[in-house]
Amino acid sequence: MYAIIGGSGLAKLAGLDEVRREVVRTPYGDPSSPVVFGKLDGTPIVFLARHGHGHTLAPHVINYRANLWALQQVGASEVLAVATVGGILAELGPGTLVVPDQVVDYTYGRRHTFFDGPDEPVTHVDFTHPYHEPIRQRLLSKARLLQLPVVEGGTYGCTQGPRLESAGEIRRMARDGCTLVGMTGMPEAALARELGLPYATLAVVANHAAGVGSSSQSISMPDVGKVLDATMARVRVLLAAFVQA
Ligand code: HPA
Repeated sequence: MYAIIGGSGLAKLAGLDEVRREVVRTPYGDPSSPVVFGKLDGTPIVFLARHGHGHTLAPHVINYRANLWALQQVGASEVLAVATVGGILAELGPGTLVVPDQVVDYTYGRRHTFFDGPDEPVTHVDFTHPYHEPIRQRLLSKARLLQLPVVEGGTYGCTQGPRLESAGEIRRMARDGCTLVGMTGMPEAALARELGLPYATLAVVANHAAGVGSSSQSISMPDVGKVLDATMARVRVLLAAFVQA
């Protein structure tokens, strides 16, 4: 069964026939919200609102460990994370959908591993390819079938937030090879890997990153909200096709 983690703009998954909700307790504390069991166009899935149902959890306080553990606990075998991002490459403008293939982590102070208990043997998971390739390919092929434009590949740079970046920080990230910037992609992807949960991200570009293109002077959060509202209908169509057998 697929799990979908919804980010900003996707705290609720419209079109999801809700069957039940479960408050899951974990050894790592409480997940962001109850896990929603439902059907997307008839296909059973579980859904988790990353920022909580009322969008009250900032990226740096999200309990990523509890979220992923809870999804695995309720029977999710694969995870698709929807993440709102800024486009660092000018051609990745507002409204663009991207299936990234790499990650650079700039976060700090987050609980980022399951392997830090006192009796835990030191464990180093492989993270060469942070996203599960079959999930990426499935997303891309469903998008092709639907004739929905989706950009294949990108490097997601994850910042600490909650403030947006300076133009200088974005220039540095561009030099580092990042093409997208968001605040929630890590440690989420790494924790999924530690649990052995296949995981990939569908990135939704809400704005040009600071200093780039339409954000050369500033980033307007009301504009970001409008872009997300306009884009999420397309995301839902893609998600429904993605989970279908
Ligand atoms: N920076 C970081 N995270 C984001 C952005 C951004 O510009 N847009 C949406 N999420």
